[in-house]
Amino acid sequence: MFDTLPGFREFPPDACAQRNHLFRVFRTVARAFDFQEYDVPVLEPLDLYLEKSGEEIANQLFHFEDKGGRKVALRPELTPTLARMIAARANSLPKPVKWFNIGEHFRYERPQKGRGRSFYQFNADLIGEPGIDADAELIALLCSIFESFGLGSKDVVVRLSDRVTWVLLLDQLGISEDNRPATLDAIDKSERRKPEQTIESLESANPSRGKELFEKIQQIKGLSNLDDIVNRLEGCGKEGQARAQQWRQLMARISAHGYDPMIQVDLSIVRGLAYYTGFVYEAFEASGQGRALAGGGRYDHLIQKLSGNCDLPAAGFAIGDMTLSDCLEANGLLPKYIISPDLFLLFAETERDLGLRLSNRLRKAGHSTSYSLKTAGFGKQFKDAGKSGARYAIILGEDEVERSEVKVKDLRSGLEENCKITELVDKIEYWDGEGGISE
Ligand code: HAM
Repeated sequence: MFDTLPGFREFPPDACAQRNHLFRVFRTVARAFDFQEYDVPVLEPLDLYLEKSGEEIANQLFHFEDKGGRKVALRPELTPTLARMIAARANSLPKPVKWFNIGEHFRYERPQKGRGRSFYQFNADLIGEPGIDADAELIALLCSIFESFGLGSKDVVVRLSDRVTWVLLLDQLGISEDNRPATLDAIDKSERRKPEQTIESLESANPSRGKELFEKIQQIKGLSNLDDIVNRLEGCGKEGQARAQQWRQLMARISAHGYDPMIQVDLSIVRGLAYYTGFVYEAFEASGQGRALAGGGRYDHLIQKLSGNCDLPAAGFAIGDMTLSDCLEANGLLPKYIISPDLFLLFAETERDLGLRLSNRLRKAGHSTSYSLKTAGFGKQFKDAGKSGARYAIILGEDEVERSEVKVKDLRSGLEENCKITELVDKIEYWDGEGGISE
């Protein structure tokens, strides 16, 4: 026996139906926001991620050399591929581009609750629009998806932060541009680490300032409402004042969309991926349990870095299926799907050909139809019909067929009615509309 690889999942029909429920909601809400679906390869040149995703993801890549000697990787995320795709079509695409994708991703992480080595993401990105309205539109889409699953502000929270604010505040602390990436990385990881480890990382990024910076950064991370952040930014010169204004605008837009109750201003969010340049956010269960449900933000320079010439502003986010399923399950919001046919045909062996012709007609009319594949008596066929979960059993007995009729039994009520074979499709639709066969 071969087991599945660690961190990979199989989806038997009930799990597949639940996964499809997530995908259906993603698609419906994305279309309501007028995002268009696209798709891309799962296998990409390794360098795409080594250069663009940042160190954390680079260490988690599934990569190998293909038979042509190319270094390739299974996609750990979608954003670099999207950026390349947009750069190649930049002139011909009407802006803004509003695209979404649902697809599988691969990261060699330690498998644990909410974390696998293969997982699905819903990605939504908005490209070509530098203004705050694009960020607000994406955050509204994220919140609206949660809402459509039945999750409200008591259940989930979107923690909103800003890389520009961090850059301005780090400048104020005298941290040079060269030391900034390692400092931001230490801040990003500080949520999951002991203070001593963070002090050590800050010390190695900014020699002999580790402890002092740790305390100052803790204080910044404690700024937990808009007014505190705005006040702090107003002490950072003209750029700080301009950013304070954008914070206010973004929060006002999110309120106008109706989603301010789901938002929590929280500068402890920095985002691990290297390409973010502006407002960033992560969604979590409001209880604080579990890992991030979603994450995203603005990444204005990635497309230019990939193409060398095409400078297009961009922003987006991704929701993962594993943490979202756990959250829905914990809140009793994962519907149980019963996967059964609508109709089950029963026939005497002499009527099998007629049965198959009839099942063909019923299936073409859109009714999921099943029957026993093996020759069996009516008793056994009735048992199969019951097990299948079908609503109606359609019986082609010799007597009925002689009169060009079938007997239909409503397996919920036990009521039966005969009808002409030629009228069966219409009759099924009629009974469905009436809630079943009635006396
Ligand atoms: P990310 O934060 O790396 O962002 O991933 C987004 C979400 O994918 C996470 O919040 C989590 O739900 C899920 N996820 C990530 N890794 C795993 C894993 N190993 N197992 C299960 N779920 C996981 C990005 O990927 C960005 N590319 C999002 C983005 C789109 N930014 C702009 N556009």
